[in-house]
Amino acid sequence: MNNDTNVTWHEHRVSRDMREAKNNHKGCVIWFTGLSGSGKSTIANTLDHMLHQSNIQTVVLDGDNVRHGLNAGPGMLQDTHGEEFAKRFGLGFSAIDREENIRRIGAVAEIFTQTGVIALTAFISPYRIDRDKVRNTLKQGDFIEIFVDTPIEVCEQRDPKGLYKKARAGEITGFTGIDDPYEKPLNPELVLSAAEKTPDMLAAEIIGFLKNNNYIRG
Ligand code: ADX
Repeated sequence: MNNDTNVTWHEHRVSRDMREAKNNHKGCVIWFTGLSGSGKSTIANTLDHMLHQSNIQTVVLDGDNVRHGLNAGPGMLQDTHGEEFAKRFGLGFSAIDREENIRRIGAVAEIFTQTGVIALTAFISPYRIDRDKVRNTLKQGDFIEIFVDTPIEVCEQRDPKGLYKKARAGEITGFTGIDDPYEKPLNPELVLSAAEKTPDMLAAEIIGFLKNNNYIRG
């Protein structure tokens, strides 16, 4: 038997209901998915700011930042933790590493949800099965999937980090949308036509959804 089966779950004294009542809104995960450069982080940050102004408890988890800490890559861990550790726990961009990246983020986002916070996550999360696994670990209604639908041509033209250029030149391999897959959500709660609207307009659209579905008060 594995030792990890000898771990038991404890109920917390301060319940989610108590926290949500105090916050005056529900906790949930707003899961942005889309290509690199599609606008996920920008929209998440705009929405975060608007919600914060309305006294709503939020947190933003985003790909580039989380990959500096919780989900650091092998290169970052090597100096501080050594080669074996870096190899075992550092996350890159293979399918299995992306799977673990999304699993960890899902677990962190769930903790925030249980604390009555609205967690905004901005990860490419290219595999449908990985996103659906997060959805399925959460209570019905707690996972709001938002597809940031920006055509790859637009993402590539924006190329804020110069990574599409490197991928086209063969300096990066396995880059999402170029030589690695992106699987669109089949039934997302929202699809944003992000190339045609401003971040403010898109964030307002999401706030409308949150109000209409009683996550926050109108
Ligand atoms: S995910 O696929 O595992 O969800 P995540 O959102 O954490 O990806 O990180 C994506 C960011 O990492 C991109 O915006 C880009 O800046 C950078 N990146 C570096 N290499 C790659 C790659 N091969 N594919 C996609 N993004 C990459």
